[in-house]
Amino acid sequence: MFQREPQRRSRLPVGVKNFFAAFGDLKTSTGRAHLAQQTRATAWRVADETTRALTAGLGLADVRALLRGEPPVEKPNVREQALSRAFWTHLRPRAYYKSSTKFSHTFGFGFFNVFFAFVQLITGTLLMFFYEPSPERAYASIVQLVTQVPLGQFLRHLHHWSANLLVLFVLLHLLRVYLTGAFKQTRRLTWSIGALLLGLLLAIAFIGYRLPMDNAVTWGNPDDLLRYYLLHTGILPGAGLLLVAAHYYRVARLHGISLPANEEESPDATVRENARARVNYLPELWSRELVWLALALLGLFALAAWGGHAPLGRPFDSTHRAATMSVPWFLLWWQGLRLDPLVLPMLLGLRDGAGIDLTPFYDSALWQGILVPIFLGAVLLVAPYLDALWDKFWGRAPSRLGRQRKLGIALGLFALMGWLAFSLLAYFASTGSPAERIAHEFLPEECERAVFPLLPAECGAVRRIGYAQLPNGTYEVARYAAPSAEPFENMLAQLRVRLAQADVDDARAQIIIEEWQANLKKITLRIVWTPRASSDTGTLERTIYLHRDSAYE
Ligand code: HEM
Ligand code: HEM
Repeated sequence: MFQREPQRRSRLPVGVKNFFAAFGDLKTSTGRAHLAQQTRATAWRVADETTRALTAGLGLADVRALLRGEPPVEKPNVREQALSRAFWTHLRPRAYYKSSTKFSHTFGFGFFNVFFAFVQLITGTLLMFFYEPSPERAYASIVQLVTQVPLGQFLRHLHHWSANLLVLFVLLHLLRVYLTGAFKQTRRLTWSIGALLLGLLLAIAFIGYRLPMDNAVTWGNPDDLLRYYLLHTGILPGAGLLLVAAHYYRVARLHGISLPANEEESPDATVRENARARVNYLPELWSRELVWLALALLGLFALAAWGGHAPLGRPFDSTHRAATMSVPWFLLWWQGLRLDPLVLPMLLGLRDGAGIDLTPFYDSALWQGILVPIFLGAVLLVAPYLDALWDKFWGRAPSRLGRQRKLGIALGLFALMGWLAFSLLAYFASTGSPAERIAHEFLPEECERAVFPLLPAECGAVRRIGYAQLPNGTYEVARYAAPSAEPFENMLAQLRVRLAQADVDDARAQIIIEEWQANLKKITLRIVWTPRASSDTGTLERTIYLHRDSAYE
């Protein structure tokens, strides 16, 4: 009959007992080797299990093989499992056509778009913890964020830079998709969704500049800040996420990334075949994307740390609205349109030359500010369908080859040049009277945001010279004829040249510098000229106060 061995009873739990037994093992060399082997095995098991939990099934050995770009270690192939079960990888196709992954075909623009969009989501959410969306508190909350919160300045810079880079990369993405003809046939709707995304992006960025409640923004009602905030942080990004999901679903699941046209439409069957060789996502593309990710993070962090301050002007003051709306670089084209350099001059010419006055029927602000941009957006939205109609009209098969699309490419480049031309027009447009322009160059009432990131804010020549180099006194500008090594006198000489060049009669200017309070100088610029019209007062006076500690580049 089976008899139980009599057991020695112990009060100690097993783990503790083993622990003490291990001390015993340390006495002999075989015991020590056994112990080391046991420890290694346990550590590997724990690490392996944790890795499997994190990677939806890939063990440590397989992760190592992935990182080395080696074939899978375990059979059956656990990578398949990770591709379908893990969240990030299940979003990705398992394999791509080799030629569609060429860097020179997409430049990774779509990838970077997604990256920067995520950075916006994350940094934006963090900003929401500090930003207060009330007209009274918004500005102060940003000042508090950048001065009191650890890494608050960095956080704001991340959001600012990533927003600018996102817009830049989306525009480059659009250009590459257009030039490679990747918007044709099955990809038509993908393009249209992209066009909607672009509109949404510009709207989000435009509203973003409203949120700090500084003086740079002149549009809209300040009391509506909460509405803009909800649009910027909730409604529009929510709609954007849905559209990105649809856009990406089409690319990843429905039609894939296009092949380079010269390979897809090559007369040589082997070229066409080779282009369609399979490249697995794991590990080939995955490891390449890790490098891109690291580079993008590095670049973004460097810009956020050393790329200069995200603009923050003076607090908003409804009695001191800036004369012109300042817009970021990607909306300059719109500003250019609103200057109306084409239609209005033509109508005026028609009126003065031929006596046909159509100007009463033409509302420049409505047309150039709203209707023309909507029309351009609509053309962008349906561009692939227009392109298809064009092909159909000539009864030819759609082709993505550059030489079959000469007109399309020419039109695209024409649009790009128009975009640049209108942007430059707005950038260099001068507003105000000649005297105001001079005052603006030398002594603007306040610093103006630079339109392009990395350029310093424009604070005028006087502020740049700085407190210490501005001697008290009254200076008649006419007396400073020659350039001087002394910065202040040299500036006076420049001012004299500007006055002489300006389209005003008999202009004279004076600069008065007074010690207003301890460490505070009062600086007045006075320009007088002979008025030409009765509405012209013939004088302009502007005063600023400059503190000893204020520094302007
Ligand atoms: C936030 C904005 C956008 C995101 C996140 C995004 C994302 C992507 C990604 C990841 C791809 C695949 C990879 C690549 O082609 O680089 C792609 C492809 C594509 N995108 Fe976008 N995109 C955006 C905006 C746009 C815009 C503005 C357009 C055009 C108006 C557009 C049209 C297309 C088209 C047609 C494809 C297919 C290209 C091909 O198959 O070669 N996308 N997009
Ligand atoms: C495509 C996405 C986005 C773009 C292009 C964008 C752009 C901007 C811009 C240009 C500013 C002004 C900052 C400055 O003065 O430099 C801003 C501010 C802000 N954004 Fe966004 N944003 C985006 C998404 C988000 C999201 C998703 C959130 C919240 C979840 C958010 C929250 C905020 C907050 C709280 C501010 C005010 C703080 C500040 O001005 O520094 N943003 N955004």
